[in-house]
Formats: sequence, structure tokens, C-alpha cells
Amino acid sequence: MIVRRSSREIECMREAGRIVAEVLAMCGRTAAPGLTTEDLDREAEALICKRGGTPLFKGYRGYPKSLCTSVNEEVVHGIPGPRALKEGDLLSVDVGVRLNGYCGDAAVTVPVGRISPEARALSDACREALDAGIATLEPGMRLGTLCRAIQEFVEARGYSVVRKYTGHGIGREMHEEPQVPNFFTRAMGDVALPEGTVLAIEPMINAGKADVEVLSNGWTVVTRDRSLSAHFEHTVAITKNGPDILTLERT
Ligand code: MF3
Ligand code: CO
Repeated sequence: MIVRRSSREIECMREAGRIVAEVLAMCGRTAAPGLTTEDLDREAEALICKRGGTPLFKGYRGYPKSLCTSVNEEVVHGIPGPRALKEGDLLSVDVGVRLNGYCGDAAVTVPVGRISPEARALSDACREALDAGIATLEPGMRLGTLCRAIQEFVEARGYSVVRKYTGHGIGREMHEEPQVPNFFTRAMGDVALPEGTVLAIEPMINAGKADVEVLSNGWTVVTRDRSLSAHFEHTVAITKNGPDILTLERT
């Protein structure tokens, strides 16, 4: 069942989303060669708390940190630790915040110092694929339209879409219905998205093949062929005026 959010609830999610956006902007500015991913996590958690929010990921199924930091061939769920970032790394940062009982969730992929043209192109394609997906949102649309738009955009650039992980509905909980794959399946074609639906849309795309595996820490997802991966995510409401992105710093 898809929960429709009132405009009052959507404003609560925007408040959570603002903190999410502020954390991601801070991470983008701070990420530099020599900084460890746990340094970034500590700063992120401090900022979330300073704004009155709670880290959404910490403690979720035993996840130990506030951020996910996924470097290069890591797709998602990289655990912040003593690894120092280095020049040329492609860093995906994912963060969720709960504020006054409502959730926001977003991710960006950022360069560490100067990155290769290949890494830049992959990251650009992922961000643009998310934008292309968001642009399809209107009340009453089919979920399949969104999924297909993302998949077609990514594959037209010659990249692959990760199938093992998906986006999701979001509200009072981080993961609500519906699942939001970044590829088309027939079942998605039948799901209607009414006004008030709020989705966390999050394409994960690989330079090589779509296959992924989970490392022995039980969390970190990597590409099977160890090709580069990128990840962008926004929490977005479907309103009568179209898409309303809730994970922005100021709107
Ligand atoms: N954005 C991811 C998701 O929606 C992040 C979850 S990380 C976890 O699933 F640690 F909380 F699982
Ligand atoms: Co998410």
C-alpha cells in the first residue's frame, strides 16, 4: 500500500531533507585526499545532531555508522572507516535523517581531487539519469514510466543499472512501499502513483556489468567486475504541480 502524504507531512519531510542536503554539501566540500571516511562520518553525525535530527542509518539492521561512503568499485553501503581518500577517487556518500518523525534520504557521488574523464562521465550520467527519472513524475502516473526513463537514460550512455538494489517509498520509515527499481519490469507498469506519493529515487550505475557482490563485512556492495560505480539519490514528492524535490538545501 502506498501512503499518500499531506502537504503538512511533505513539509516535515522537507525539513529532514534540508539537513540531508546540508550534510551532503558539507561532504562534497570536505572530501579531499588524506581525509578518512570515518572523519567524514564523524562530521556528518555532528551536523545532523546540531540540527536536531537523528541519523537514519545508524542501528538500521545493525549498520554501525551515519553515512555510507562507497569508493570507486564500491556501489553502496560502504562503511566509513580508517581508509584515507586519495586523489582521483570517486566517492559516493549516502545519508538519511529523521526529524520530528519524518525521514529524508539522499546520496551524491563526488570527486576526490582531480578524477579521470571516465569517472566524471559515469558520475554525470548517474546524476542526469536521476534528473530524467524525476522529470517523469506526475500524479496518477505508472511506476514503470519512472523506472524505464532511468534505465533508458543509463543504457543509452553505455552503462549498466544495478538490479540487486532499488529505491523505495519513504515517509515515517526509511523504507516504505513501493520498491523503486531503476529498470523496467512488467509488474511496475501496473502500479499507479497518486498525488502525495513520496519516493527515494536512487540510480546505482556501473561502468561495466550490472552484477554486484557483498564483501565479507556483510555490507559493502562492490561491482563483480570491479568497474567504477556511481550513485545519486533524492527524496521526491509527487504533487499536483509535478515533482517536488525534498532533499535540497533551500527552496
Ligand atoms: N539509501 C540507502 C537505502 O535507502 C541507504 C541505506 S543504508 C543502511 O537503502 F545502512 F541504512 F541500510
Ligand atoms: Co535510499
